[in-house]
Amino acid sequence: MLHVRKGRGTHGGDHAAKRGRVPAPFHNCSHLLTARAMSQKHPDRRTFAIISHPDAGKTTLTEKLLVAGGAIHIAGEVKARGAARRARSDWMKIEQQRGISVTSSVMTFEHQGLVFNLLDTPGHEDFSEDTYRTLTAVDSAVMVIDAAKGIEPQTLKLFEVCRLRSVPIITFINKVDREGQTPFELLDEVADRLALDVCPMNWPAGMGGQFEGIYDLVDPALMVPGGDASRMYEGERIAVEGLADPTLAARLSPRALASLEEETELASACYAPFDGAAYRNGDLTPVFFGSALKEFGVVDLLAGLATHAPGPQPQPAEPAPVQPDDDAVTGFVFKVQANMNPAHRDRIAFMRLCSGKFERGMRLMQGGTGKAIAISRPMLFLAQDREMAEEAFPGDIIGIPNHGTLRVGDTLSERSDIMITGLPNFAPELLRRVALVDPTKTKQLRKALDDMAEEGIIQVFYPEIGSNMIVGVVGQLQLDVLISRLDAEYKVEAKLEQSPWDTARWIASDDAAALKAFQADNRGAAATDRDGAPVFMAKDAWEVGYVTQRNPSIRFTATKERVFASAG
Ligand code: G4P
Repeated sequence: MLHVRKGRGTHGGDHAAKRGRVPAPFHNCSHLLTARAMSQKHPDRRTFAIISHPDAGKTTLTEKLLVAGGAIHIAGEVKARGAARRARSDWMKIEQQRGISVTSSVMTFEHQGLVFNLLDTPGHEDFSEDTYRTLTAVDSAVMVIDAAKGIEPQTLKLFEVCRLRSVPIITFINKVDREGQTPFELLDEVADRLALDVCPMNWPAGMGGQFEGIYDLVDPALMVPGGDASRMYEGERIAVEGLADPTLAARLSPRALASLEEETELASACYAPFDGAAYRNGDLTPVFFGSALKEFGVVDLLAGLATHAPGPQPQPAEPAPVQPDDDAVTGFVFKVQANMNPAHRDRIAFMRLCSGKFERGMRLMQGGTGKAIAISRPMLFLAQDREMAEEAFPGDIIGIPNHGTLRVGDTLSERSDIMITGLPNFAPELLRRVALVDPTKTKQLRKALDDMAEEGIIQVFYPEIGSNMIVGVVGQLQLDVLISRLDAEYKVEAKLEQSPWDTARWIASDDAAALKAFQADNRGAAATDRDGAPVFMAKDAWEVGYVTQRNPSIRFTATKERVFASAG
């Protein structure tokens, strides 16, 4: 059922700019990141992530974007990850999966004079705070939707995180080469469930078995299939004057042309025209139909990112937001990856640069501690490689090897008075009690849990009553990773036991006496997190609601930002 949303046409003037094209199949692009592009200033960065539900085609699209962007030559490089990720039954596989995701946490490539930084968001069951936090380090996102399935639960969760931060989203409706829902059903679902204006940028001429190509609504052209039945890909791009152009009648079947005419006319009456400001505010999503597998719509998506996606944005901070134009170098750690080499306890902290021109060897202040750290071996991640980062600009991601000094959420800056905010901890959805098989290993267990909490894999809570620590996670795989790593890395044998609680909320109040009284009344459910912040553990969401209602002077929050005593 079609919902009429807007009475204006689809063809906004903002996006009429001609976009550079890469001929398909696009396997012959240069892939070297040139010193020229890397040394351009910040407006030339596009730092983004792809969000999707498992199996929507994120891995395939990532690979095809990297090929289209000239970052990799051979299709298949990223694809292996899909299978590796799905294999998660034993330690070796988890290790393998982690190893693979390390090298591809960030992929940087240059295309059309822009530097694209694509950040990996683990999309399978290993959904964790890590995923959420990665989204704090991007300036925009691409949301991939399976044309047959529409919006799925994980898409929705990730979308909500983007919305919290008003991250602009480009939608890619994938698998149009398969039978799916109609374009109208899909667009209306996005509009209704995500409360976004939608603006189709192209339109499929038939879908599934009747797919004959894609029509560009912005810069009128028809993309027709190349190759043969065994390997179809986006072939020729035929520029046309509009739908009445006789070329269309020559290239499409009468049925496909008739429905393309009818549907696009209806679409132009139904959906919002493109509005760059609404997109950048997170109120409108441009939508590209395509097939990652068959490479349809991928070049257009990349061009859409280049043309419309914002460059580095200001970053929330205390005492004032960090502007990309600020001279002082400031960045924050959004991810820490341990175990890149199990023989050494080395870690890589991934820092998103927010302002200033970073140069290798710089000494940056670790916010909250006042310590200065010399960044002598910063790494830059290319799709298939990594190299020393001699310099970096706002929007860039650099890897900083360290021995555990850097934590997720840390600010690194030339200034001593600045603290990046907005890197929350999220309320866990599973709480488990950790029971040691050998009770003499308490110290090792604490250290292990602390390390993993630092990486954002788990959260640790210390109950007021009892000596067992409680771990909190967002997804089951985090628990599997926890047990494997306890055993393999820390030689600690532990069991996870059911706890009486399933969720937790951070608690605070302007009335210190009321907070104290609440904690005393609920001692059995009171705990502190690893920063010492008070937490209330609840059986379920219903209990959270009930207790919240009965204690109006207490604030119960599902997220917590790290708080430091002083920013100096
Ligand atoms: P994910 O990272 O989001 O989990 O998805 P992934 O790219 O791994 O894709 C999931 C499945 O969907 C894969 O099939 C992939 O080939 C297929 N796929 C992705 N894009 C398209 C598309 O545009 N059209 C069609 N028809 N299929 C697409 P699989 O059978 O699970 O894996 P594989 O055997 O192909 O590796």
